[in-house]
Amino acid sequence: MLVEQKLNTLLELINTSSNDELIWINGYLNGVLSKQKPEVKVAPKNATQKITIVYGTETGNSKRLATGFAAKAKKSGINAKIQGLDQYRLTDLSKEEYLLTIMSTHGDGEPPVAAQKFYDFVHQNELKLSKLKYSVLALGDSAYPLFCKAGEDVDEQLNKLGANRIAPLQKCDVDYDVEAEEWFSKIITVLHENPGSESSQIVAPIIKKTSGKKIYNGKIISHVNLNDIGSNKETFHIEIEAEDVTYSPGDSIGIIPENKEEIVEKIIGITSIDPAANLDYKDELISVYDLLKKKLNILNLPERVVKKYATVVQQEIPATKIDLLDLLKIYSVKDANQFIEVLKVLEPIAPRLYSISSSPEAHPGEVHITVAKNCFKINAEVKHGLASEFLSLLNEDHELPFYISPNNNFRLPEEDKNVIMIGPGTGIAPFRSFLWERDSTGASGKNWLFFGEQHFITDFLYQTEIQNFVETNLLTKIDIAFSRDQQEKIYVQHKIQKNGAEFFEWLEAGGYVYLCGAKEPMSVDVEQTILQVIEQFGERSKEEAKQYLENLKETGRYLTDVY
Ligand SMILES: Cc1cc2nc3c(=O)[nH]c(=O)nc-3n(C[C@H](O)[C@H](O)[C@H](O)COP(=O)(O)O)c2cc1C
Repeated sequence: MLVEQKLNTLLELINTSSNDELIWINGYLNGVLSKQKPEVKVAPKNATQKITIVYGTETGNSKRLATGFAAKAKKSGINAKIQGLDQYRLTDLSKEEYLLTIMSTHGDGEPPVAAQKFYDFVHQNELKLSKLKYSVLALGDSAYPLFCKAGEDVDEQLNKLGANRIAPLQKCDVDYDVEAEEWFSKIITVLHENPGSESSQIVAPIIKKTSGKKIYNGKIISHVNLNDIGSNKETFHIEIEAEDVTYSPGDSIGIIPENKEEIVEKIIGITSIDPAANLDYKDELISVYDLLKKKLNILNLPERVVKKYATVVQQEIPATKIDLLDLLKIYSVKDANQFIEVLKVLEPIAPRLYSISSSPEAHPGEVHITVAKNCFKINAEVKHGLASEFLSLLNEDHELPFYISPNNNFRLPEEDKNVIMIGPGTGIAPFRSFLWERDSTGASGKNWLFFGEQHFITDFLYQTEIQNFVETNLLTKIDIAFSRDQQEKIYVQHKIQKNGAEFFEWLEAGGYVYLCGAKEPMSVDVEQTILQVIEQFGERSKEEAKQYLENLKETGRYLTDVY
């Protein structure tokens, strides 16, 4: 047991350290301890294993882990090759000895786009992989109905094809660092214990569950529309209080939106179920009403759910996406009891992620988000996105549970480095966080912001704060583009082009570029413009400019958070 003083020192160190620092400390302590053990096992010199680490990523987490693990493996004397699954030669699969796959799940339980070909290849071919030893690390978010599904599928399929697991599938939630490290330590141990190519340790397909992520009990303390009267848009600044919240600038929050009362009530009416009846749901006793309002997805049911519904009501239903209310109208349930069976086949409401726009230093005990109300038309009828409409209608004092979804691929650099932030529309959110953080910590690096929207008068989000940051010189430079204030459309990329010489100077001086906002077309156009700027002001060929940008990406100096 530790004496109290030592324990307090240790707790202070833990509480003030970031996740990355904790992992480093963990590794350091392992190193210290292993030096104390006289009987350290070292793999025989002539028996270095060759491993291939492949990753399938959409937002960079799997790649970041794979890169770190490859470096670690090399340090421990293992010959490690690393490759993105989009680049992986599929015919090499049957020649591999050890294959470590790190992949996330996206969309609705699908593999990342970059991993699709690999996913299809292992599922659609009768491969014989009995010589292959493997393990899969699956990243995901347990709030999604199909948690880590893509990784789970690959693990199962490789096993079906005869390959041997050297460590069980590890499923990781959004706070994946610790479990991912544990998985890799296990792999390193197995590799060191089984030198030479003859060895093969077969591991049962136990799927390791992750520890649950922390859910905070947030309360809305401020809720304002940032757009002025006459705007085409509604963008809400929402402040949520949660005393014990911890996060870093760049992180997002995950929230589960609630279904609309009027739809829930119609469902209750049509099924004659008692809304107050209590049911067991994930170890919690909850009323039918709350289950339908807060937990279960009742909109756009995926085909797999429609199929299960058909089985419950014993009717033929074509495979299609449909809302629960429409299903109930067309293929009605017999009685309330049958509806309870339907409730069992419904899936949870998927979470929605929002970039945090506050700074832990400037706004302790709070998280702020910047939410644009999502409007679209279906058959000339104006519809709203479930989550943005739900958030737009909340009042102060409303309770809002949320979790932190860390984004280690979108972090401020050291305090003296210069940053260029490109964030039109709600893309401004993480940069408001960055600016407040740099303001509060007195960071000495220069800051350049590009912001854009439709109209100066109605849509300059956070105008007063931004102008204050300019006055206090926190913002070294600002360029704003209001697309519809003149005849020809002006966007942030035009401002980048106009300031091309200086933009390139910032790059040459070691500046970091951050881009946040709409993936299409904004992020594509901005990247194209940055390439042109490098070409023109850096006097480089097209190919060299591409290489220059690639290098910025590889060294973590061009970071994107686009959606
Ligand atoms: C639009 C979107 C959809 C997602 N869908 C799922 C899902 O169906 N199941 C799941 O477990 N995780 C899902 N996730 C969570 C990601 O798998 C998780 O954020 C992971 O850490 C991403 O890793 P990557 O950066 O390597 O792609 C989704 C994330 C986003 C942004």
